[in-house]
Amino acid sequence: MKTIDLRSDTITHPTEEMRQAMGTAAVGDDVFGEDPSINRLEGLAARMLGKEAALFTPSGTMSNLVAVLAHTRPGNEILIGSEAHMLWNEVGGASALGGVVMRTVPNGEDGLIDLDVMEAAIRPHNNLHYPPTTMLCLENTHNRCGGAVLTPEYTSGMATVAHQHGMTVHLDGARIFNAAVALGVPAAELSQDADSVCFCVSKGLSAPVGSLLCGRMEFVEKARKWRKMLGGGMRQAGVIAAAGIIALDNMVARLAEDHTTAQRLAHGLIRIPAFTSWPERVQTNIIMFEPPALSTAPDFIRAMASRGVRFSYPGGRRVRAVTHRMVGDEDIDETLNRIEAQAASI
Ligand SMILES: Cc1ncc(COP(=O)(O)O)c(C=O)c1O
Repeated sequence: MKTIDLRSDTITHPTEEMRQAMGTAAVGDDVFGEDPSINRLEGLAARMLGKEAALFTPSGTMSNLVAVLAHTRPGNEILIGSEAHMLWNEVGGASALGGVVMRTVPNGEDGLIDLDVMEAAIRPHNNLHYPPTTMLCLENTHNRCGGAVLTPEYTSGMATVAHQHGMTVHLDGARIFNAAVALGVPAAELSQDADSVCFCVSKGLSAPVGSLLCGRMEFVEKARKWRKMLGGGMRQAGVIAAAGIIALDNMVARLAEDHTTAQRLAHGLIRIPAFTSWPERVQTNIIMFEPPALSTAPDFIRAMASRGVRFSYPGGRRVRAVTHRMVGDEDIDETLNRIEAQAASI
């Protein structure tokens, strides 16, 4: 029985072209700034995101953490969506290592934070008791909100208000190219008013490792020092950067295929009795759905794993599926068949 793995787009393997490029990559010591492949990838990332410079990090988690470390001081407060990946899934690094207070503002189902609610959460500077609110974090696409997309207009509006209050804006754009493809706009438009933006080449873009943190030159140099402190200076990492270059050159446009398979799954799910899914909310490659009330989400996920289909559990009644390069239409149809077989057995 073929296993169909819908836990995450991070499970994608490097393409043959990536493996070839990795085998022959020009390398040097990146801690000395001498790895030509890293330098090329950082230049390419900065150009694609419309920023002056970029820094290659081992993971999205490190990029987000380094952004907080470079933008804030211990004792500062950052505003962050209640469903943000940085809040839920990054081990509290911003607080543990950056010493910042993470103050949440609610994310709607559509991933948006209400602008007025965000502005009301900013602490007045003239009160002795308050930590200074110095940073706003946004996420595009929004993982826990089902891959929801933030438009350039929304991000600019939020950034304008944050900047009026003297704050910096960081965009966790782990899947920003999914948003760009879904909206049909260049990624740079989605990040133009953010002070920093990071994205992953290791997710739907299929490279094996790595993220890029982009921003102004001075910010990236600060971030480089923080990355070194965290142990993220990676020497001849051009071997992995070579795959990242192919991810950016050749793998962005095909993300549309993952969005199409996500729609196929979401529409298929609503045809199965007692399953709840919201195809109209599926904008990119993440699908949230609920199994019939008779089964808890973890029980359903376990049962499906024994039928060779793997999902992940974001909490509550929900199940998460993520489409990617290694699942095609026929895998989605087979997934729906196996879900139907499981539903019939409940
Ligand atoms: C929105 C978002 N940000 C950051 C990350 C962290 O990336 P990494 O797993 O490379 O640390 C992820 C990973 O899934 C994510 O979905």
